[in-house]
Amino acid sequence: MSIIESNLKTAFSTVLQERRSARRLLPGAFPATLVEELASAARLVPSSFDAQPWRIVVLHERNADFWELVTATIDERLENDRRDRYLARAAGMRDGGMTLLIFEDLALSAPQDRLSPEEARDHTSQALGMLQLTLWLSLTAHGLVTSPQHWHEFLEDVVLWFAGLPEEGFRLVAFMPVGRAAERPEPRAELTSRVSRETAP
Ligand SMILES: Cc1cc2nc3c(=O)[nH]c(=O)nc-3n(C[C@H](O)[C@H](O)[C@H](O)COP(=O)(O)O)c2cc1C
Repeated sequence: MSIIESNLKTAFSTVLQERRSARRLLPGAFPATLVEELASAARLVPSSFDAQPWRIVVLHERNADFWELVTATIDERLENDRRDRYLARAAGMRDGGMTLLIFEDLALSAPQDRLSPEEARDHTSQALGMLQLTLWLSLTAHGLVTSPQHWHEFLEDVVLWFAGLPEEGFRLVAFMPVGRAAERPEPRAELTSRVSRETAP
């Protein structure tokens, strides 16, 4: 193995190991080229028919406004323990300084080439998962942390409104608050292998 191959393998393995979910954030230092780099990484993500059925909105200047709105919505729409838990989570995430909003673009995810609606939906959700992991690993490679949040049930309409996207054309997939880690990740649970080797007949 050449030195370049060996360095690549080590770097890849390090990024995979370093990627963790961080839910308490400190302000991140964002390189000027970060948004361009995330856009380039997203362009490399595979998708069925190369449809790239997503829209990513990067919040930086409006990040504090976004989290104000999230907090006010939690306050208004949730109750009791659940409200307290989500308010605490939002308080941990708002200070990172950047949030990626990930949407499905429904015009681009419609079935193609005789796929059934169920097959098309399955392809879309697989591609959207690949997109999120790619963005997550790209952020990890910059020493930044995130975690994907799925708070659609009470937040989808306000997030679409904030992003200026019509409800009939887009669906919220996740949002990813980005920053510097303010917590150490839990040690990983012992990894159980879900891989089995073929056995001889
Ligand atoms: C599809 C998917 C949905 C997730 N949803 C959430 C979420 O809504 N909130 C959250 O804090 N973490 C969420 N996570 C993060 C997982 O909880 C986390 O990846 C898992 O516990 C493993 O921990 P690690 O990321 O530190 O390795 C999600 C992860 C995936 C892949």
